[in-house]
Amino acid sequence: MERTFIMIKPDGVQRGLIGEVIARFERKGFTLVGMKLMAVSRELAEKHYDVHKDKPFFGGLVEFITSSPVVAMVWEGENVVASGRTLIGATNPISSAPGTIRGDFGITIGRNLIHGSDAVETAQREIALWFTEPELASWTPAN
Ligand code: CMP
Repeated sequence: MERTFIMIKPDGVQRGLIGEVIARFERKGFTLVGMKLMAVSRELAEKHYDVHKDKPFFGGLVEFITSSPVVAMVWEGENVVASGRTLIGATNPISSAPGTIRGDFGITIGRNLIHGSDAVETAQREIALWFTEPELASWTPAN
């Protein structure tokens, strides 16, 4: 079954949106298989955002992600990578539709509340970066 990596960023945690995000993924029908509230090391943040290392916002992004705890999660379900991105909304909250997490709660791209893997291969890389195998539970909801 497909899995994706979802992170509620420091702004999402500070604004009290942990429950809101989890509720939206649960209501959609996805299964939570891993979750932890954690402080992010500079090393982990730099590895996670490695693809952006040459961008002008990289330094600020790493500073921000390491500034205060995040909630790292792994969700499982059919097409959860693409569907999760739809629930989250476009990267820039200017373009994210109402009804999406960023569309409903975000204003600026540098404080867009949440991260979701952009492809199945990226999800595999990110899950391995943030979680160890014993931290992930395999289970099937009864209904
Ligand atoms: P995320 O989905 O976590 O992936 C990369 C992040 O970089 C993105 O969300 C934004 O938070 C951030 N980002 C992208 N473009 C900019 C920008 N122009 N200025 C600041 N942050 C950016």
